[in-house]
Amino acid sequence: MSDSAKSESANQMWGGRFSEGPDAIMQAINASIGFDQRLYAQDIAGSRAHAAMLAAQGILTPSDAEAIREGLLTVLSEIETGTFPFRVELEDIHMNVEARLKEIVGEPAGRLHTARSRNDQVAVDFRLWVRDQCDAAISGLTALIQAFLTQAEAGAEWIMPGFTHLQTAQPVTWGHHMMAYVEMFARDKSRFEDARRRMNECPLGAAALAGTSFPIDRHATARALGFDRPTANSLDSVSDRDFALEFLSASSICAMHLSRFAEELVIWSSAQFRFVRLSDKWTTGSSIMPQKKNPDAAELLRAKIGRIMGANVALLTIMKGLPLTYSKDMQEDKEQVFDAADTLMLGLAAMTGMVSDMAANQKTLEISAASGFSTATDLADWLVRELGLPFREAHHVTGTLVAMAEKKGCDLPDLSLAEMQSVHPGIRTDVFDVLGVNNSVRSRQSYGGTAPDQVRAQIARWKQILNG
Ligand code: ARG
Repeated sequence: MSDSAKSESANQMWGGRFSEGPDAIMQAINASIGFDQRLYAQDIAGSRAHAAMLAAQGILTPSDAEAIREGLLTVLSEIETGTFPFRVELEDIHMNVEARLKEIVGEPAGRLHTARSRNDQVAVDFRLWVRDQCDAAISGLTALIQAFLTQAEAGAEWIMPGFTHLQTAQPVTWGHHMMAYVEMFARDKSRFEDARRRMNECPLGAAALAGTSFPIDRHATARALGFDRPTANSLDSVSDRDFALEFLSASSICAMHLSRFAEELVIWSSAQFRFVRLSDKWTTGSSIMPQKKNPDAAELLRAKIGRIMGANVALLTIMKGLPLTYSKDMQEDKEQVFDAADTLMLGLAAMTGMVSDMAANQKTLEISAASGFSTATDLADWLVRELGLPFREAHHVTGTLVAMAEKKGCDLPDLSLAEMQSVHPGIRTDVFDVLGVNNSVRSRQSYGGTAPDQVRAQIARWKQILNG
């Protein structure tokens, strides 16, 4: 091979000191264009801001800057219309865009990379992408919260069993249960908001790692790209992936919440519980058992956290122990985050669909709430309040009555006054008032409690927060 043929097979972006092209396997392990082409819009936005700033600073001539600007718009439309020739030998999105720009505008394209490196370029592209995903998660969560609020409003006073250990504990209201998820998903939303605020600093201009000798204006590029300010340390700028990790941690917690309600949907829609019904839109049939309506979407949501949490652990593992500053290890950040973000957005949309779709079976919920001695605590509280018993003694008396009812095969309100008095002579007939599930939930008026009034107050508070 002649020298010129050799150097032609070397990379046209950085191949100056190379006489040979890479081994095919080297190219396969090194190239990221297969996945980082998802960053094209961010990459072009970053380049446009950079070129405009270089021109404003007198580092690029106005005509070069204009050629670059127009060329980048052509590249953008080629990518968006599917005519862009992605080339694996150009490694990544940054070099694919720049090489194509050169074909379109010629010499000025070579000046775009002045005062910049792929290290700050990828850092800004990826930050912009993750920032968009925070926004998507925030609006996805807002829709999900609305869906739970609608359910809560419809059933603020419907009665259902509240569980601990998945054993009947005390009656609660449907609205209260729905509002528990509003609290969880609102915290998730605020985690994405916090992460977004922290990541909103622009690394562009950190160059390879040390900054640049050109008189750039980092505040201008930060502003142009919607960042609050430029990052303050160039070494940190190119080696930090905290923003992606925060996105993945917030996503993991959110996915954990999704999986908890998914699990409840699986249980609640079973023939044994029948608490809710999911329509045909959100269930699947069995190919062998004609009676089945399976909650596949809920099951998949319960499982999807595996990918999201996996991505979180993977990226922590990639970053752990990396010396400053950039290392190619960091290229492994993208597929993890892409997959986690796609999974989260799909999960939020699916959950919003199911929550809007599910129909509570009010009657079954109420009957179930009354079984399992669910008002035993109300009875113990009555003994304390009305007869002045110490709570421990009241607990013991109630336990004896529960055992008696269990032996008779009935519920607490089915015991006679005489039977009750055989355990404690002070018990009066008005005890029966507190043994009904309706009075039980209505009595739980403590702030944040299950009483319909309390639930309605929380619904009103959240509506105000969401609309204000
Ligand atoms: N594709 C690379 C990445 O995703 C871009 C940065 C390359 N920088 C470098 N010094 N090789 O990390």
